[in-house]
Amino acid sequence: MTINLEVWEDKAALYNRAVEIIANQLKNGATTFGLATGGTMEPLYEKLRNSSLDFSHCTSVNLDEYVGLSKTHPESYYTFMQQHLFDAKPFKATNVPNGEAEDVHAEAIRYENLLKSLTLDMQLLGVGVNGHIGFNEPGTSFESETAVVKLTDSTRSANARFFDSIDEVPEEAITMGISSIMRAKFILLIAVGETKRAAIEALLNGDVTEEIPVTKLRDHPNVIVLTDLKMN
Ligand code: GLP
Repeated sequence: MTINLEVWEDKAALYNRAVEIIANQLKNGATTFGLATGGTMEPLYEKLRNSSLDFSHCTSVNLDEYVGLSKTHPESYYTFMQQHLFDAKPFKATNVPNGEAEDVHAEAIRYENLLKSLTLDMQLLGVGVNGHIGFNEPGTSFESETAVVKLTDSTRSANARFFDSIDEVPEEAITMGISSIMRAKFILLIAVGETKRAAIEALLNGDVTEEIPVTKLRDHPNVIVLTDLKMN
């Protein structure tokens, strides 16, 4: 399938467009949203917080969570979502993997079963510098379901900016798998900044390869990519 690429060099316009896409989803009856974290999502959630959109009848399912951080840790994705979105925009139900579960493998299975009981009307995605989606690092099977995964050094150093030092970045996470993500009816991927250029070029022009997880989106029938990167 072709990817619907929209280049918005003006970041405010890019995020306004993302809000418009989400508003259209709501208008068309979407109730189940796969959500993402990361610096890319912060301006989007700020705009959603300041919008009149109502999610109180909606369910959210987040992509991933670090293993071993308590929910209340400032860098847990649970806390990120409360602070950036849920405190201001309540949902009927919100779901984030429990990274402090006693048995994290059982938690991954529970989360995958939850996902299979729902239909994601939309999945919001960022992308890692190395092309990861969720925390599915290069080399992950395209058939993967929700699992406990090891983070690469590249991802841990990219995320170290949120922690006091790289040693504090967890080594593992629970993440929706690539096949879990691909079941969403619609995917909105946002990639902002030069560090994401190689991943977006691979998505648009490269081979579909497990070495660059984001390339799998080429096999999805309904994807929009919003980026501020002018592509050649
Ligand atoms: C993180 C998250 C991803 C996110 C990506 C990019 O590690 N697990 O869900 O999309 O990396 O993050 P950022 O938006 O901060 O560049």
